[in-house]
Amino acid sequence: MRLEPRPELLQVADVVHGALDFAELEQLGLAPEAVLDFSVNGNPYGPSPRVWEALTRVPVDRYPDREALTLRRALSRYLDVETERILVGNGSMELVWLVALAFLRGGDPVLILDPTFGEYRRAAMLMGAQIHPCTASSHAAFCLDPEVILIALQRLAPRIVFLCNPNNPTGTYLQVETIAAWATARPATLFVVDEAYLTFAGGAPSVLQEQSDNVLVLRSMTKAYALAGVRLGYAVGHPDVLNLLHKVRPPWSVNALAQVAGVAALTDTAHIASSLSHVAQAKQQLVRDLRGVGLEPVPSCTHFFLLQVGDAMACRRALLQRGILVRDCTSFGLPAYIRVATRRPEENARLLAALVETRSWYDSC
Ligand SMILES: Cc1ncc(COP(=O)(O)O)c(C=O)c1O
Repeated sequence: MRLEPRPELLQVADVVHGALDFAELEQLGLAPEAVLDFSVNGNPYGPSPRVWEALTRVPVDRYPDREALTLRRALSRYLDVETERILVGNGSMELVWLVALAFLRGGDPVLILDPTFGEYRRAAMLMGAQIHPCTASSHAAFCLDPEVILIALQRLAPRIVFLCNPNNPTGTYLQVETIAAWATARPATLFVVDEAYLTFAGGAPSVLQEQSDNVLVLRSMTKAYALAGVRLGYAVGHPDVLNLLHKVRPPWSVNALAQVAGVAALTDTAHIASSLSHVAQAKQQLVRDLRGVGLEPVPSCTHFFLLQVGDAMACRRALLQRGILVRDCTSFGLPAYIRVATRRPEENARLLAALVETRSWYDSC
């Protein structure tokens, strides 16, 4: 091809994600419905029945509301935050990209706390930003020392810090008072706090309560509300920050199905409370069972956790051949670990049995 791409594009690698890879399943002769997916950190009980019901009434021949007012008002009531402080996105993923597009220029320093969700790095690198990682070690159970981060903030004066709280893939949690103190100390830095998994963290507080102008909170409705297929997320922050994201946003990015599903999901507080409570209990049981067969899940505050298996790629392959998908964490820089998201008890039992059956993969670790 004679067309030259922007040089930044050549530096940027694709990000590996969990979830079913349909081409891979086809090669293995597996039907997608036959695979139990532990690689995605969603709610295994699925969306509220109210979502299914509401979806049947969506006028799909009409453009959706560009401003998603009904949904933003519903979120405003749910969060007790003004509607002007809320922007919705086509998954929280879209919001990560809008942040990069609105705020980053070539050479801007960006701080990323590794190992973490790969799209922060990709979005920042596409804008030509300079990535500065702070990497947590397995010896410290993947917990980062806040002092180390503070020093990095002072040294680098980053334009943006991406903080995933609780973190994917480790399930570690940073105290919100600590984040707020950093935000106060560095008013020219935008702290993007991705709370995609906060609902799975058993009531851990949100940084939203700290109300800092240079903190932008991202939330996903695809995980706990199980709306991955329709794609829905939202950002909560200072209206000036949101106005800039709005400027770079494609119109109608949040489709009509997603808007209606989001409103319906928010009304069913009983479904979300009971399903997440079941998941939390199932996680405790799964962790006990894994320990019972000699495996040691890394402590996490979420329903997903890391598990050291020796050769993660081989372990994933062996499990997939048995119709079970886990996340190989090689792309996070952790080739000896898989990430497992708790599912329903009977499904977790199948994972356990398959891990025991394939234990030659991880016996060496
Ligand atoms: C930490 C984190 N943030 C954001 C996302 C994107 O979520 P969404 O489906 O809302 O775009 C993911 C998806 O895996 C994630 O792990």
